[in-house]
Amino acid sequence: MTISDVLVDQGKETVSRFAEQYGKDKVHFVKCDVRNEDDVKALWDETVTFFGSEVDVMVNNAGVNHLPGWKICVDIDLIGVLNGTYLAFDKMSRAKGGKGGVIISTASLAGCVGSNELESSPYFIAKHAVVAMTKSLGTPKVYREHGIRLACICPSFTDTDIVTGDKQLHQKIKEKYDYELMPVSRIASAFVSLMKTDLNSSNGKALVVVPEVTDFYWPNHDLQMLKWLGLGGKLLKKAKPEVAIFTSRLQFVWLLITFLAFYFILRFGLCCVF
Ligand SMILES: NC(=O)c1ccc[n+]([C@@H]2O[C@H](COP(=O)([O-])OP(=O)(O)OC[C@H]3O[C@@H](n4cnc5c(N)ncnc54)[C@H](O)[C@@H]3O)[C@@H](O)[C@H]2O)c1
Repeated sequence: MTISDVLVDQGKETVSRFAEQYGKDKVHFVKCDVRNEDDVKALWDETVTFFGSEVDVMVNNAGVNHLPGWKICVDIDLIGVLNGTYLAFDKMSRAKGGKGGVIISTASLAGCVGSNELESSPYFIAKHAVVAMTKSLGTPKVYREHGIRLACICPSFTDTDIVTGDKQLHQKIKEKYDYELMPVSRIASAFVSLMKTDLNSSNGKALVVVPEVTDFYWPNHDLQMLKWLGLGGKLLKKAKPEVAIFTSRLQFVWLLITFLAFYFILRFGLCCVF
């Protein structure tokens, strides 16, 4: 395993602890700023040279909160992830002679639900995009073409510097959200279970990790929803062409109609059978 960070001292210290436990030839450190494509390429190449074999799993984990400003936040939390992901496709894709592989990204619960303030919005926007990337590339078609599977992890607040490193931010989060800080080991075990699952079934999935709850995949029914709302919109256009927008309220009425129709069809079907 190669560990990488912009923080060289901390990175090397972590690597030496792993080396004591697993052996010096099992772990390596390379400095890399994920915003810099050349750095990411060098990280990949040095890893291949050090271990003398191709990379099996690429983990996009580097991240910052919104405090450095929206451009830096998006640059690291989104562009950094895309730098890693597209390079991994370039190197691992079976279409390009590679042996395939796995890409796991650390998104966040902020990638599943929206922010309700301006300040932290860049973080939420970047993490939503990481979930979107996972959904877009973690598909059977992409897997057939490239032999690469993707998943991401969406933890809630965890006890690391990104939350506790800034006292004011930590205090603000404490006041705003009713939350419990999870230990890092909780995320590590979620990562391990994700790697142990049949990666076929987790392809394209976002695994939500929150305290005291069994980890679960964030639902992805976008296509079904599009078809269902498309059908409702079509009927609405025929019935009431003057209505310009299929609003949430109208969608709720459509939900009730389809639910009742489904209920009566099911009842009628069961009556016919018994
Ligand atoms: N801690 C949480 O509550 C939480 C919750 C959900 C998701 N996450 C995500 O988990 C991931 C890991 O963060 P963490 O919680 O361990 O926080 P952390 O601050 O301890 O670790 C983030 C690491 O990213 C490194 N980094 C920052 N910018 C970089 C860059 N440009 N290039 C390379 N490395 C860089 C930092 O030096 C740091 O070591 C992040 O993507 C974060 O968004 C954290």
